[in-house]
Amino acid sequence: MSLVRVRVPATSANLGPGFDCLGLALDWWNEADFVLDGEGVQVEVHGEGAESLPLGRDNLIAAAALRLYQHTGSAAPHGLRIICNNTIPLGSGLGSSAAAVLQGLLGANRLLGDPLSMDQILVLAAELEGHPDNGAPALFGGLTAAVMTSNGVIYRRLAVPALALAVVVPQFSLPTRAARAALPAQVALEDAVFNLSRSTLVVEALRSADLDLLGQVMDDRLHQPYRLPLIPGAQAAHQAALDAGAVACVLSGAGPSLLAVARSDPRPLAAAMLAAFQAAGLSARAFTPVVSPIGAQVSG
Ligand code: HSE
Repeated sequence: MSLVRVRVPATSANLGPGFDCLGLALDWWNEADFVLDGEGVQVEVHGEGAESLPLGRDNLIAAAALRLYQHTGSAAPHGLRIICNNTIPLGSGLGSSAAAVLQGLLGANRLLGDPLSMDQILVLAAELEGHPDNGAPALFGGLTAAVMTSNGVIYRRLAVPALALAVVVPQFSLPTRAARAALPAQVALEDAVFNLSRSTLVVEALRSADLDLLGQVMDDRLHQPYRLPLIPGAQAAHQAALDAGAVACVLSGAGPSLLAVARSDPRPLAAAMLAAFQAAGLSARAFTPVVSPIGAQVSG
């Protein structure tokens, strides 16, 4: 009976202007054990999503695992049990679906003797997700810039110094599909230039821990103006974080969570954002994660 354990971190994508290309790995993990046992596919979920996630082939981890068997021309296993211990809030803009996809791909890859390289795993993950900005940092850790091309994913990983972060997750459903549907198909040239000029400087500000620079450039015109109004209290929470001294505050991925960068203690920023969401009638949870220099881990 083989046992493979896969740990994948939470990620915060976009980081303001880096829509669909920048992402940061957080020291905040989902773990899944893969056991060749029994018949068919059976998934057990503990922690986040225990009440709601599907427990068969339609579970995202299971579907990604079966996709890798198919992609490599391998017969699906007679019996596969997947036991999940989740700590990343679901559907929150913290990369829980990228984590699930990578868990399935990496677990199946190890069960088959690692036929695919990490770069090939990233391509499959980006195809399943539609964009590489969560998958790249989840796989490699740190800050990543990634681009999907017809020849695969081009990416670079950058080590980043410690950052003081506050993440607030409101209890509000904003599926990524809906958050993407809210975006315009075309944008003004000045908005495109606004983002691309800032995204290069956001990378430099994070790499060199230049918080003054980060505060000047961590801003966006391609997705946040369309998404923040969909989330009750989000605009107020964004402003509350800045009023409480945040260097910058952005939507984490497609939301609904917000990520704020602090100069020192992130807890006052978390408290300010929590209060703003609560004033808008949403309960919310606050976290103060740190950056993970490492990405997914596979053992067994
Ligand atoms: N870059 C993606 C988006 C992240 O903002 O839609 C979604 O996980």
